Amino acid sequence: MATTDAETATTLLRNIKNVFRARFSWWIKRGSGIIFDWLHRVDTGGGIAVRDLEIASANRDKGIAYDPCPWSTLRESLGLIALRAEGFTFVDIGCGKGKVLLSAMVLPFSRIVGVEFSSYLTKVAERNVASVRLITRRCPHVQVICSDAVQYQIPEEPIIFFFANPFRYEIMEVVLDNIVRSYLKKPRPIFMMFYATSSIIPQISEFLSRKSGGRALLRGSSLLGLRSINIFELPQDQEHLH
Ligand SMILES: C[S@@+](CC[C@H](N)C(=O)[O-])C[C@H]1O[C@@H](n2cnc3c(N)ncnc32)[C@H](O)[C@@H]1O
Repeated sequence: MATTDAETATTLLRNIKNVFRARFSWWIKRGSGIIFDWLHRVDTGGGIAVRDLEIASANRDKGIAYDPCPWSTLRESLGLIALRAEGFTFVDIGCGKGKVLLSAMVLPFSRIVGVEFSSYLTKVAERNVASVRLITRRCPHVQVICSDAVQYQIPEEPIIFFFANPFRYEIMEVVLDNIVRSYLKKPRPIFMMFYATSSIIPQISEFLSRKSGGRALLRGSSLLGLRSINIFELPQDQEHLH
């Protein structure tokens, strides 16, 4: 089929936009992060020296450094599969300074939990949750737990887990094993969102499917800006299997 001038121009524009995005995304992210912090009177910036993190865990070297997600990440991830916050506990595994927790607070989750193994980052997240201004809080129950994710006790309620590339696959497997075991003991809806984790999605997918006896479903995959989002579901019962 012949390509029209309009199509050529559109493709060219898209390519220019992508190159611009890739080149300047770091600066755009940093700039909007600074404005966000100033506006909401919080501290969510990255780039913290490892010696300041106060991590006691033996898994310290298997963790990925704190890097905040854009504010819209959670809302866009939920929108991707038309998932509503009502009736769910939201858990951010590796919550850092709590940027994603802040974005969860404007949604009507039953409760919100952040798990973080750096006691320095945990303290900052607690401060941010307490002091953030100019947001409409729709979930008042927010808790930040200082713990290695592998030791985190999975709550027995419907949960949406959020993983923003927190650690290497070997740690991921231990945490996912805990989640699937808890699900098999007490089946209830569990969603797992993996952001910026594309390189280990095949391993995650295979592991979840095998451990859950084929019950885990990939519900959505997309790009949010330059980063990937993949969402898996462990459905409450067979009727949820499509
Ligand atoms: C990429 S950041 C995630 C940022 C965060 N979700 C946000 O608000 O945007 C990864 C975080 O996981 C934490 N982390 C790494 N390994 C961990 C582990 N084993 N247990 C708990 N937290 C961990 C790091 O300290 C870091 O804060």
